[in-house]
Amino acid sequence: MPETFEIGLGNHDPDIRKKADSDFVSFWDGQARQLSWFSPWTETLDWNPPFARWFVGGKINASFNALDVHQLSKSSKPAILWEGENGESRVLTYGDLLAQVRKFASVLKSLGVKTGDRVTIYLPMVPELPIAMLACARIGAIHTVIFSGFNAASLKDRIGDSGSKVIVTADGGYRRGKIVRLKEVVDKAIRDLDFVKHVVVLERTKNGITLTSRDHLWHKLMHDASPSCDAEPLDSDHPLYILYTSGTTGRPKGVLHRTGGYLTHLYSTYKWAFDIRDSDIFFCTADIGWVTGHSYVVYAPLLHGATWVMYEGAPDFPDASRMWEILQKYGVTIFYTTPTALRMSMRFGDDIPDSFDLSALRLLGTVGEPINPGVWTWYFKTIGKERCPIVDTWWQTETGGMLISPLPGIETVPLKPGSGTCAIPGVDIGIVDKDGADAAPNTRGHLVVRTPWPGMLLTLWNDDKRYQDAYWSRYKGCYYSGDYALKDADGYLWLLGRADDVLKVAGHRIGTAELESCLVSHRSVAESAVCGVRDEARGEVIAAFVVLKQGIRKDHGLEDELLGKVRSDIGAFAAPKQIYFVSKLPKTRSGKIMRRLLKAVVNGAQTGDVSTLEDDTAVTEVQTAFDEIKKSMNQD
Ligand code: WTA
Repeated sequence: MPETFEIGLGNHDPDIRKKADSDFVSFWDGQARQLSWFSPWTETLDWNPPFARWFVGGKINASFNALDVHQLSKSSKPAILWEGENGESRVLTYGDLLAQVRKFASVLKSLGVKTGDRVTIYLPMVPELPIAMLACARIGAIHTVIFSGFNAASLKDRIGDSGSKVIVTADGGYRRGKIVRLKEVVDKAIRDLDFVKHVVVLERTKNGITLTSRDHLWHKLMHDASPSCDAEPLDSDHPLYILYTSGTTGRPKGVLHRTGGYLTHLYSTYKWAFDIRDSDIFFCTADIGWVTGHSYVVYAPLLHGATWVMYEGAPDFPDASRMWEILQKYGVTIFYTTPTALRMSMRFGDDIPDSFDLSALRLLGTVGEPINPGVWTWYFKTIGKERCPIVDTWWQTETGGMLISPLPGIETVPLKPGSGTCAIPGVDIGIVDKDGADAAPNTRGHLVVRTPWPGMLLTLWNDDKRYQDAYWSRYKGCYYSGDYALKDADGYLWLLGRADDVLKVAGHRIGTAELESCLVSHRSVAESAVCGVRDEARGEVIAAFVVLKQGIRKDHGLEDELLGKVRSDIGAFAAPKQIYFVSKLPKTRSGKIMRRLLKAVVNGAQTGDVSTLEDDTAVTEVQTAFDEIKKSMNQD
């Protein structure tokens, strides 16, 4: 039994779980009433499995709830405290933010953007990124933000799938002191996409760009834009955004989130988990290009009128003290980051964080990957000085917001280092075996959700069937998360990583499918498979296995070429740590690559473990491939 720590803050509500357990629909109905609606809903939940519509008939607007509702009491309160990588800073109050969002919404309208149109946003971590998102939300356009670490081929796929007519980007962005030339990436990505009519370019780095007839400079459009633009009353299930996430097969999945349910989920979970108060300074280190950034950098804090720090660069640039320096500078009270960022800091010892004044901190959060108990304890003791609860939040792009987390804002729960404790109220999580029966305590099973929840994805963009197949076909009536977990004898949930082949590198979710098809598109490559290798600092790094075409010989030049291809097609963050050249890949009888076997091999499992794999396997073939990979690993 691990050590436990008592936590408790906030205004406790002893009845909240009772209410949620007795009727989750009316429970969420009550939560939704805390937002501002233009008109009320007539039905709380229309559940036509696996399609859920929350607050049917209600009219709402995300930008209105994020900005307009605060104008009377908080227009001069800082919303965003922005810190540039080079030390620049900007403060945007709630009043400033609304003014900018109104203007940019007018700009979008003047470019012909209408309700339901998609707008791709490919920007670095600068205030114009949330401004562009909120401007879309204001007029009912669907934003689709692409992480600025993605390169041209990935960007092209995503723009192509969403059919965005307008792209918002910057000349460049700063990353580790260097300029990333984003506009050039956009130019390459949209070369053959005739449906893209306008590209709005923010000048951030002034690195000199060539403008074409479809390009417009952000500041010029803003200068001429109308300062008034009312928030459009939209249906509760009007799509708010598409966020692409990669899977193990096929093209990236366009996860579609709607408005009313998503905002309700964020409003409640942000309050419950972070016990948010008017005086708090919140800092989440996630990039807005990923879901944590959408939900808990942009929307949740704004719904609560909170002040948040937005940091442009890498947390360890120019050195490992940067993150703690920002916490001290802004007096951060609530800090939300990833286990990878913590592991990286931990390696440099306690002296660095100890040399900063972090006494304003009152609550610490983590997300994105399992947190090792050792890292948890370091976070609790060295950073939080045993005063701050650790809120370990489990969720996914698809869930919209947290589903498992300690909730110091509403209850006192003893914490166990490394456990996310239990499900949030109003959500029914199960841990099941491969046949769908409840897994016994302390036994690893698949994490499923048995009831709809307000933040859940609506569907996959233009692909209801794939939505159904990917999430709702494995266990009847249940949402399949793709994660392993177990419940201990006290009912605490422990997350044990992905059950499928999705990779988590430094907290970034990377699909095997995109990487493999990138490698295979190289002229010398016949087949490829990638998998994760455990890594002390980054949680997981990527190993790639490549079968070359007949007559092609492996050499170091080829390895560099393949790495370069991943960097320029997908992005540097997805580059494999190691490429192994093999003569064939282990496959099941039905021809599916057994990535789990590869994973077992690179993570040091013994040959005997092969026979314990569940798949219908051609064991001898696997055995041969296994031996060959071992040999090639020993040679490297
Ligand atoms: C993993 C990120 C353990 C998990 C919000 C999930 C976690 C995937 C945790 C989703 C956590 C997220 N403990 N694992 N607290 N939080 N994960 O879509 O494997 O980028 O399925 O969403 O991250 O990643 P995504």
